Amino acid sequence: RTPIILDCDPGHDDAIALLLALASPELDLLGVTTVHGNQTLEKTTANALRVLDLAGREDVPVAAGADRPLVRELTVAAHVHGDSGLDGPSLPPPGRGPAAGHAVDFMARRIAESPAPVTLVPTGPLTNVALLLERTGGANIERIVLMGGAVAEGNMTPAAEFNIWADPEAADRVFHAGLDVTMVGLDVTHRAVTTPALQERLRATGTIGAFVADLVDFFAVYHRETYGWDGAPIHDAVAVACVLQPSLVTTVERNVEIELDSDLCRGRTVVDLWNRSGRAPNAHVGVDLDSDGFFDLLVERIARLG
Ligand code: BDR
Ligand code: CA
Repeated sequence: RTPIILDCDPGHDDAIALLLALASPELDLLGVTTVHGNQTLEKTTANALRVLDLAGREDVPVAAGADRPLVRELTVAAHVHGDSGLDGPSLPPPGRGPAAGHAVDFMARRIAESPAPVTLVPTGPLTNVALLLERTGGANIERIVLMGGAVAEGNMTPAAEFNIWADPEAADRVFHAGLDVTMVGLDVTHRAVTTPALQERLRATGTIGAFVADLVDFFAVYHRETYGWDGAPIHDAVAVACVLQPSLVTTVERNVEIELDSDLCRGRTVVDLWNRSGRAPNAHVGVDLDSDGFFDLLVERIARLG
């Protein structure tokens, strides 16, 4: 089994990513770490715990990490995910608190203890991951498969995707850490937009499937109003799916730089698609998704949770 740590900011699509990981026997989920992002750290942490409670997985540890970006001011995405960060379906408050200690300590310890190198799956701003790499230099990390960035799109600004925009200095460190980084950005995840038919399939699988469909119902409101779409892109679950079935995501090896200086392009992932810069590739950049394959996997796995 592949040992993974999910570093997330739930968040509707983070919650679905977490459920997909829980439902997948190929993965050994060592823990969940939380970060500021879609909502404050306090709320994203509570949401991770609430989703684990729903799935009956009180055994999975949750550790809370950075409550703000390395340099920038905190910005949350309440306009997308609501006041709780997980608006829509009603979930009780968490039945437990997070583990003692900071997420970066937790990650460093679990990674050092793991007999096999660990895959990190960050689905929020990269603050925790940057701090971890500063601490350990990336020892015993197999690879990083992150949701963030885009070759040619933006969702926070015309130029930038939210996770990278939120903490661009952290992203800059992660892309320059010399590790094996896969970037699952908007070019990929905007091909993972739900349909009413998918919602029906999810609902038919059981309680957790109905919960996922309810999450999507809320998440789709913003995308309907803003983009005119008939559903919502399940961004973060695609990063987990990419670990489970790498062939679902088409990638190319390219250089990626993070824009830190300009206001207009803050957090843009400048992908050298046509090798114009002569800079060495530092990431596997996702450019396409087998959408049907992704949704088939998602439904099949969510069904296992009952
Ligand atoms: C990313 O931003 C967040 O709103 C989502 O959870 C996802 O991780 C998409 O840009
Ligand atoms: Ca997220």
